[in-house]
Formats: sequence, C-alpha cells, structure tokens
Amino acid sequence: MTVLQQVELGSEYLQEKEEIICQRIAARKKELGGNLLILGHHYQQEATFQFADLTGDSLKLARNAAAAKDRKYIVFCGVHFMAESADILTSADQVVILPDLRAGCPMADMADSDEVASAWQELTGVDTGRVIPVTYVNSSARIKAFVGTRGGSVCTSSNAERVLTWALSQGDKVFFFPDEHLGRNSASALGIPEDEVVLWQRGMPLGGNTLEALRKAKVILWNGYCTVHMEFTAALLDQWRERVPGIRIIVHPECRNEVMSRADQYGSTEAIIKAVADSSPGSKWAIGTEVNLVNRLKSQYPDREIHLLAPSPCLCETMYRIRPASLLWVLDNLAQGRIVNQITVPLDVAADAKLALDRMLRI
Ligand code: 13P
Ligand code: SF4
Repeated sequence: MTVLQQVELGSEYLQEKEEIICQRIAARKKELGGNLLILGHHYQQEATFQFADLTGDSLKLARNAAAAKDRKYIVFCGVHFMAESADILTSADQVVILPDLRAGCPMADMADSDEVASAWQELTGVDTGRVIPVTYVNSSARIKAFVGTRGGSVCTSSNAERVLTWALSQGDKVFFFPDEHLGRNSASALGIPEDEVVLWQRGMPLGGNTLEALRKAKVILWNGYCTVHMEFTAALLDQWRERVPGIRIIVHPECRNEVMSRADQYGSTEAIIKAVADSSPGSKWAIGTEVNLVNRLKSQYPDREIHLLAPSPCLCETMYRIRPASLLWVLDNLAQGRIVNQITVPLDVAADAKLALDRMLRI
C-alpha cells in the first residue's frame, strides 16, 4: 500500500454537505468491514463520534486498541498522543491512522522531551532521594519512552491516584508531568500535605525551588495545563450552587484543585458519563469538562437538567479537527489501497514507551 501524509482536503470533501459525507462514511465502513476499527474519544463532535465502533476515555481506548488484534486498520478519532499509544500497543502489521494530523494536544506539547530530560538531570543531580517519573498519557511517545527507561509509569485521569501510590512505593518522590492539576489533585486525594507538593517551573534553576523544598517534596509537578479545563473556576461553581439548589457538580481532574475540591464528584470522561447515567431522572448537574461531551449527555438524558459549568465555549479545538470530511478522506483512501496519516512511532521509542504503558496497564 502507498503511504501518504496530511494534505489539504479538496472541494470534493470540504464543499460537500455533511449529510452526504456521512452517508459516504457509512458506505465505506460497510465496504471495509471487519478490517477496520474506528475508535472515538468522548470529546469528538457528534457527527464524527456516531461512526465510532468503540468509544471511551484515554484508558479504555488504549485497552481497546491493545485488544483489537484482528483489525488491520485502526482509525483513531481523538488526538495525536492517543493514536501514538494505540500504535505502541498494537502489532507491527496493524496500522493506526489519525484522520487529521493537526489534532494534537496543547497540554502534551507543554512537556518537550529535551526540556524534561534536562530538568530530570538537574533534579536527580542534587541529592533529593530516589525520584520516580510519572507521565500523564497526554504526552508524546518520546516522553513515555523517557519514563519507561527510568522505572516510571504512564497514568490517565482514571488511574492517576493508583499510579501515584505505586510510584511512591518505588521511590522517595515522584516527578509528574505534564499536567500540574491532575498531579496536584491526585496528591491531594491521597492526603499528601500541600507543602510536600511543589511546582517545577520550566526555565528556572531547580524549577524555581530551594534545595530544601525539593528534598522535602513527595511530588514535583511540571507546570503544564489544559486550556479547556482552565475555563472552570471556583467562582463559577459557587454561582451554580447559589442559582440551582440541589445541583451536583462533577469535574474532570484536569481542573484546578480549588475547583475539584469544591465539586461533589470528579473523574475521567468515562466516570462523568457513568455518574450522570446512574443518577435519577430529575437530577441536576453542572459539568466541568469539554462541551461536546456535555452536549451529548444533555441529548442522551433529556430527563436530567444538565449544564456546562462555564458560560464560555469550552471546546477542545484540536479534538474538533477530526471532522466527518477527514474521516471520509482516510476511509476513501483505504478503500483505494492507500494509507493516509499513519501514526508510526519509531521502533526504539515504541519499545521504551511500551515499558511505561505496560506498567500502567498492570498497576
Ligand atoms: P480522559 O482520559 O478522561 O478521557 O481525558 C482525556 C483528556 O484529554 C481530557 O482532557
Ligand atoms: Fe488536550 Fe485539553 Fe484537549 Fe484534553 S481537552 S486533548 S488535555 S487540550
């Protein structure tokens, strides 16, 4: 098969009505049959999400990809790091495709592998005890490889507390990247005192910390964040409580700690869906996560009162790049014997990254 990378889609895709594009996707799916598996993350726009064979949060989708041994082509409707993890967890003869290569994750980009390596060198060069690296799955394959070869693990929003507990049993402290907030929220849920959690500020000597503070720390956090989840503030949460008595507030753990600690519940996208599904008709919710998931819950559960926690759009623009037109384009190419937008992690990087991913799947 010919392998091609991202091109500008022609008018055949861009100017066609979405309804027609969707009919063509359905026909291509049928034609490609059992060779194809479409995975869809919960933040995907509805028009694309409807074509997913399996849907989930990052952990569930990684497990789905690892288990899909009989599927030659895995089309990942999500973002780049998710497709990379799928490539690492599948066999060499399986092909993972991301319908738009511009679908990255800005938070993942906040931890560059060279920057992490030099911070690591600085941190482990001073005597602070044995450090275990933990990376959120929202990170590049190179970061995962770095962690894998240093005895660390990947975590996702649904197992971060478990992975942190494991990592602290392996060493004196944890270096956690790239999401400051998931790291802080997990440490706080485990009861780690605030003065034992410090922030590593990129570009500053010792990350802006004193040697004494680093020695005392149990958890050292990289200062990355998700712009979507920064939209949710403690003030908004207080306003909902005042406006709608009895409202339940659930947020994703990428939110700031002051938001998470005021919420009734928190959890991964999968956990948010379960909480709403398990609630009784008539229950009222304000949800602090990406808008496409919140809108889907609103239409699936019209008998619950569901609100987005913030008045701003809260759209993950990179997830939104996976449009039906891009999905159709990759399927049309597959049907014509061409692979477009294949995600291929170099073998040496994949082998090291797999150490960290496998550790997570075992913990
Ligand atoms: P989940 O693993 O909870 O689906 O989260 C992925 C993500 O990118 C959240 O912003
Ligand atoms: Fe990345 Fe935030 Fe988008 Fe999740 S919502 S993929 S963390 S930018």
